[in-house]
Amino acid sequence: DKGKYRHFMEKEIHEQPEVVARALGYHTSFEGNRADTTSCMDFAGIPSLAISACGTAYLAGLIAKYWFERYARLPVEIDVASEFRYREIPLPPQSAALFISQSGETADTLASLRYCKARGLKTGAVVNSRESSIAREADAVFPIFAGPEIGVASTKAFTCQLVALATLAIGAARARGTATQDEAKALVTSLAEMPGVMGRVLNSIKPDVELLSRELSKCHDVLYIGRGTSFPLAMEGALKLKEISYIHAEGYAAGELKHGPLALVDENMPVIVIAPHDRFFDKTVSNMQEAAARGGRIILITDEKGAAASKLDTMHTIVLPVVDEIIAPMIFALPIQLLAYHTAVLMGKDVDQPRNLAKSVTVE
Ligand code: F6R
Repeated sequence: DKGKYRHFMEKEIHEQPEVVARALGYHTSFEGNRADTTSCMDFAGIPSLAISACGTAYLAGLIAKYWFERYARLPVEIDVASEFRYREIPLPPQSAALFISQSGETADTLASLRYCKARGLKTGAVVNSRESSIAREADAVFPIFAGPEIGVASTKAFTCQLVALATLAIGAARARGTATQDEAKALVTSLAEMPGVMGRVLNSIKPDVELLSRELSKCHDVLYIGRGTSFPLAMEGALKLKEISYIHAEGYAAGELKHGPLALVDENMPVIVIAPHDRFFDKTVSNMQEAAARGGRIILITDEKGAAASKLDTMHTIVLPVVDEIIAPMIFALPIQLLAYHTAVLMGKDVDQPRNLAKSVTVE
């Protein structure tokens, strides 16, 4: 039932404050003066972590790589499952491996799980469906509580995957002694702010998103750029737009612009810059200026601090509240999802059932 919404995708985007809160309720705990994560694998002595997934779930894993490496000092080997399973990666058997899948049935992800199990790695499944093959075969299951996701384009599963992965990274940091209890508490406390911020953002960005979608719906190509965790998010933005609007879109690391894609930039090419005011902000803005100097139409998605620090006349901005670094990917996912959604709706596309795609990919 779509309720008051036109499409499942729209409904699922707007459900995020609620489902993310449910995921947080399971993966974190607050008692008295303490705030902790509740799910963990045996991360303490392991040399590395492998992550395998497909599509949007893979991009959630890529964001988690930044977290595991930064907070837990745990090296992460990640690849799309269709490559991971055949790469003959020399995985140390003492390592752990995570498999991320909304459906829990994706053939390549399941094969990657079996590959790691056969090599003696401890395996964990980050899944929406606990009755799925991937959940059944993994040693540990980390449910994401997104509820049924009907739209083929993954939205709420993505942010709920990020919740589970963020808490696992914080748990890993505690287990490995790379974060103090207070540092972990600060991160968990920031995560707890997410549902409220999401609710406010979903209301406040609507006019900007609708305006910009009108522009995007006339384009043939769109480039998304970002640095740090905003880089996988740039790829997720491009994936969402291409799969439901059929507009060609690419996500690039902002620093890679001048290594090729800058050649594409002209007045017909919007460049969507994902740039919270984090430690990468100045660098991303200078990449943005390179694109603006080539006539590129810049759409900057930033926060209040970033908006104040970067004035370019040729630019549209979507301004989000300033949030802690660990929740920025989940908050910045919202305008990206809504831009894709409204653009596809304006173009008259079947957003819930895009051509050629299936919700669950159980064949190779
Ligand atoms: C994109 C999308 C797909 C899935 C991918 C993995 O919006 O939905 O890229 O993320 O097919 O599916 P699961 O998570 O079920 O393994």
